[in-house]
Amino acid sequence: MTTELDIPILEERLAVTSDREQISIAFVGHVDHGKSSVIGRLLAETGSLPSGKLEQVKAHCERNARPFEYAFLLDALKAEQSQGITIDAARCFFHTEKRDYMVNDAPGHVEFLKNMVTGAARAEAALLVIDAEEGIRENSKRHGYILSMLGLRQVAVLVNKMDLVGYDQSVYAAIRDEFAAFLANIGVPGPAFIPISARMGENITERSEAMPWFDGMTVLDQIESFEKPRGDAERPFRMPVQDIYRFSADNDDRRIVAGMIETGSVEAGTHVTFHPSGKQSAIKSIEGFNAPQRPSVEAGYSVGFTLADQVFVRPGETMCRTDEPAPRVASRFRANMFWMGHSPMIRGRRYKLKLSAACVGVELAEVITVLDASDLTSVQGSQEIERHDVAEVVLEATHPVAFDLSGEVEKTSRFVIVDDYEIAACGTVVEDLHDGTSLLDLRVREREYTWAKGSVVK
Ligand code: GTP
Ligand code: MG
Repeated sequence: MTTELDIPILEERLAVTSDREQISIAFVGHVDHGKSSVIGRLLAETGSLPSGKLEQVKAHCERNARPFEYAFLLDALKAEQSQGITIDAARCFFHTEKRDYMVNDAPGHVEFLKNMVTGAARAEAALLVIDAEEGIRENSKRHGYILSMLGLRQVAVLVNKMDLVGYDQSVYAAIRDEFAAFLANIGVPGPAFIPISARMGENITERSEAMPWFDGMTVLDQIESFEKPRGDAERPFRMPVQDIYRFSADNDDRRIVAGMIETGSVEAGTHVTFHPSGKQSAIKSIEGFNAPQRPSVEAGYSVGFTLADQVFVRPGETMCRTDEPAPRVASRFRANMFWMGHSPMIRGRRYKLKLSAACVGVELAEVITVLDASDLTSVQGSQEIERHDVAEVVLEATHPVAFDLSGEVEKTSRFVIVDDYEIAACGTVVEDLHDGTSLLDLRVREREYTWAKGSVVK
């Protein structure tokens, strides 16, 4: 092409050309409860480590007179920091006969909640690790809440370090009962619980003889039983428009609409509508950089489209198929949100909202409920949102934005709020509100829902 076009085609999906199924799993939980150790065990026991790695790490520990830990395997793979805590949402892979697993090892320290959110937002299933000796801690609950808010429904809970409590069934049962009740309350009913010891290798890939009282699945069997969720490609087509490029050669006035496809698929000829503007056209061609034109393209690709008619759309709009359900368009919406900002979120202050392709100003219009995310107790009558609180709020953007609702198309229902160049919150939109929706209506409606159904979780 004789253009200055520079559209990176995301060939990630092509790189994974094998026919094998791949599923991504996030490990979450309070600091030091044993996430990296469980993953290290899984890597070793499924034969997924590079050859010689286990011996190399063991030898290194011996030389430095340190006891060997399975968590070191991940550190070695990721060349992590020496203080022994996971700093980044490290990704690693293991394989079974059935399929390939991509694992996000999210750090458990409260300072790294953002990494945890990023890791979990990409996952299709999650394992939440709780230390049997220490019990449920505040990040066990925060992480549980965030999984629920992100719409992850395939969750299992690993009660780890059972060796430290003498493999006592009653310790396990107490944690299971308390945490199951908590999860049910936030919309994650009936997850599996597994008592394990990552250090001793109990119930990881083989059934534990130390815990004959447990008749459920091992961690590996549990992971293998997770279902691959319906692919993004089968959802409604959504492409947040990132940029409009012009052909520069030959006075050509065609334009290319570029972005990354979040969900769905389109072909040349597909009729499309841009939201919020409502402008319509049809796809004339699907362009890639240094790549042949393709007849169709789907979720996961960065791509450019030429259109049949000259319509003027802007970056920040969402490109959709005309024959599929349209996204919502509103400047006011109700959302569940997790605040991570250093200073509290307050009314009257202008923040930046990134939702789908849009990046617009936003203000806190109304606080419906504020909860302390570590125990989900309600913070009465609060009009501001403190660090690490979760809240149900009404937000008001400076311009109308196109988005979907949580439970419809998860990817285009999630947003972040930026305060002072820092990501200060993540959340999901649960309802689009229009000018006619008064706050009084909202409160009346709120009373008609139960807490679990209506006010915090979608
Ligand atoms: P962060 O990444 O910092 O959040 O920690 P983590 O959850 O990944 O924990 P990690 O796997 O690093 O383990 C923390 C400590 O607990 C290490 O010293 C482990 O050896 C120890 N540990 C992990 N699993 C077990 C277990 O089953 N039994 C015992 N006794 N110790 C364990
Ligand atoms: Mg770790």
